[in-house]
Amino acid sequence: MILQDFRPFIYFYKNIRFTSGMPELHRHYPLKKLNTFGVESHAECFARPENLKELISVLNEYNRENLPVLILGKGSNILFRRDIEGLVVHPAFAGIEKVKEQDSQVWVSVGAGENWDRWVAYATEKGWYGLENLSLIPGSVGSAPIQNIGAYGVEISDRFAWLDAYDPERKEVVRMNGEDCRFGYRTSVFKTGPAGRYIVTRVTFRLHTQPLLNLDYGNVRNEFTAGGGQTPADLRQLIISIRKRKLPDPAEFGNAGSFFKNPMVEKAIFNCIRTEFPDAPSYPVHDNQVKIPAAWLIEKAGWKGKRIGHVGTWPHQPLVVVNYGRATGQEILDFTEMIRADVNKRFGIELEREVRVV
Ligand code: FAD
Ligand code: EPU
Repeated sequence: MILQDFRPFIYFYKNIRFTSGMPELHRHYPLKKLNTFGVESHAECFARPENLKELISVLNEYNRENLPVLILGKGSNILFRRDIEGLVVHPAFAGIEKVKEQDSQVWVSVGAGENWDRWVAYATEKGWYGLENLSLIPGSVGSAPIQNIGAYGVEISDRFAWLDAYDPERKEVVRMNGEDCRFGYRTSVFKTGPAGRYIVTRVTFRLHTQPLLNLDYGNVRNEFTAGGGQTPADLRQLIISIRKRKLPDPAEFGNAGSFFKNPMVEKAIFNCIRTEFPDAPSYPVHDNQVKIPAAWLIEKAGWKGKRIGHVGTWPHQPLVVVNYGRATGQEILDFTEMIRADVNKRFGIELEREVRVV
């Protein structure tokens, strides 16, 4: 466990006096490196609290100015249209702590500021299994429950025990289990409720000390077997190689993964699509609903590999919208709105954004 350090400093910034436990408050802070689209934006104020005391201090001080607060992890599921008014809080809570072990299960609590994929690598090495399918997803641990991250047949809700979050309204830390979080496909209470209502400080996972291989998604089993895979570490390496093959690296091509969610539609609607496209793909979700890959709808609407100025869809995966260089957030948003309008015109289906636009 990494002990949180508490820095008893006194800061003065302009006319604000910062008392002990206050993290540095930056004004007009550049966010270009804190969003994977790589667009230009500045935060009016920016703070990186490393522990609960610092978080509470910065929120209390800041409340006096009564400006909005945005919580920002690694910026891999967010699009900045402009400069951000108010305070941007980047939780930097660290630490990985084993809470208990029982009957081949282990509970591990992780600080919200830890890097998601580094945590998955660490867990796999320690023999705490179950997160391998979620390898190489960008972002921080605290952001992972917000949209219930998922990939290759596993969602964080499958490995989730509870989380701790600071509630600025009630000024207390609350502990929430899976039911409280109301997880769904790319959603949770944190997305459906008022934005910023809770600030996640730690997430506790329930993992397995015996290998638990989930190979049921798409071609994963075939590739795993063909490559001689046996262990969870092998599965992690396979997932990493599949993702590297399919998705652009944000360090090279700015993007935020899937821009839209895969829409769920009534079977009757899907049957209409099938009359025109007999090979249209779908996945069953409920008795009367199916999920259609948004990538397929976007491709059929003519947007695969299309580029306008500095924005385009990724040639191998049109659900991923790419900043080819100097695009602004507004240009990216305009581009995606054109895609949305065309898909709607072509199929009568309204795509819902996965990425948060601010
Ligand atoms: P941010 O983008 O910084 O924030 C996302 C949201 O969470 C914002 O609303 C923010 O306010 C809120 N938030 C952040 N931290 C906290 C906190 N501590 N408390 C409360 N609210 C908070 N996602 C998937 O599900 N599956 C994938 O396979 C996947 N692949 C991706 C591939 C690429 C190349 C990229 C760029 C993105 C991908 N994503 C995927 C999306 C993204 O990685 C996840 O949504 C990730 O969890 C976002 O983490 P972040 O720290 O970057 O969050
Ligand atoms: N497809 C096309 N044309 C293409 C690419 C794909 O028609 O050019 C169709 C194919 O039918 C393919 C299907 O789309 O079988 C699904 O494609 P893929 O396996 O790439 O997955 P996805 O549904 O596009 C989802 C998640 C990803 C996650 C992968 C793997 C959503 C919105 N996206 O993508 O998550 O990594 O599955 O589980 O659910 C993210 O959320 O940011 C993200 C990248």
